Amino acid sequence: MAVRVGVLGATGAVGQRLIQLLDPHPEFEIAALTASESSAGKTYRQAAKWRADSPIPDDVAAMTVSATDPDEVPSDVDLLFSSLPSSVGEAVESAFCEAGYVVSSNSSNGRMDDDIPLVIPEVNADHIDLLEVQRDERGWDGAMVKNPNCSTITFVPTLAALEEYGLETVHVATLQAVSGAGYDGVTSMEIIDNAIPHIGGEEDKLETESKKLLGSFDGAELTLNDVEVGASCNRIPTIDGHLENVFVETAEELSPAGAAEAMREYPSADLHSSPDQLIEVFEDPERPQPRLDRTLGNGMSISAGGIRESTFGLQYNCLAHNTMRGAAGASVLNGELLLENGYL
Ligand SMILES: NC(=O)c1ccc[n+]([C@@H]2O[C@H](COP(=O)([O-])OP(=O)(O)OC[C@H]3O[C@@H](n4cnc5c(N)ncnc54)[C@H](OP(=O)(O)O)[C@@H]3O)[C@@H](O)[C@H]2O)c1
Repeated sequence: MAVRVGVLGATGAVGQRLIQLLDPHPEFEIAALTASESSAGKTYRQAAKWRADSPIPDDVAAMTVSATDPDEVPSDVDLLFSSLPSSVGEAVESAFCEAGYVVSSNSSNGRMDDDIPLVIPEVNADHIDLLEVQRDERGWDGAMVKNPNCSTITFVPTLAALEEYGLETVHVATLQAVSGAGYDGVTSMEIIDNAIPHIGGEEDKLETESKKLLGSFDGAELTLNDVEVGASCNRIPTIDGHLENVFVETAEELSPAGAAEAMREYPSADLHSSPDQLIEVFEDPERPQPRLDRTLGNGMSISAGGIRESTFGLQYNCLAHNTMRGAAGASVLNGELLLENGYL
């Protein structure tokens, strides 16, 4: 029987992607939708300014949106996917966990907390058991798992593939699509014919979240990876797909051919939304490109290319679809992991 799920912040950009992924999902059934007070009481069709690239599913369109309050969500809903602004997530997500709901969240609040698992299932699925520590410490019947920032998700799987060579320093420069800022994030007058070399708070997310994702969990405590990560983030006028230029120095010698092989062989996860091939590696140095390659693996694959030796170690480019692999798909994948591991 399908698990009854809800979406917090269902009317937004990521919320709409969640609806697209959850409506046909074989393991989940959409049973609750929430948004702000201004949307509460309306049908989803009335409340959501639907901009996704497929029609609103009829059954979801007819559902009534409720306020984002634990008392407004049916108690037989087991799992909530949260795509709330982080300030709102900070205020309300814990209340849902206290009320017994399991939350798989996109929002950045709490991602670096010691007892909140930050998970990419293909990279650090074992961190999910940090939930036992979380429940002991917080006394929650529910639980909270987070997925990382969209630009962190793009390069961390490629680092995980190279980890056996001893990661020492990583420099990453991002070229991030406008959808990452949400529909109202960057105006056309700001971004057309332009690039913006700053995204507030983003560098810090790449630098800290990567160390947590690549850290180790001994069943009681999580230790951050000691790799040094430096990031520089740029907004460019693409719609979807974050492209990143990465420089990696490793303790052991690593050739471009060795890195390509390690990335190609890095395993995917055995979950419904995991792609068969997690990292697609191109020989053509002009790939990956956002428009051509962001939908590989139904938008859930990472792609890499241009692997070469540089003055600053190994250099390569990588790409992921920021609202699929980087946001909605990442949360759904964590929901599948929660189910697989008996947390629902
Ligand atoms: N866009 C991306 O690529 C991306 C990637 C990774 C992570 N994220 C994160 O995902 C989250 C959502 O991003 P988004 O781009 O989908 O944002 P968005 O389009 O602005 O959507 C925000 C959602 O939250 C609801 N909301 C706003 N204020 C609220 C309040 N006070 N109480 C309850 N609900 C409220 C909105 O409902 P109304 O429609 O009623 O206002 C809407 O459903 C953010 O934390 C963002 O940082 C986004």
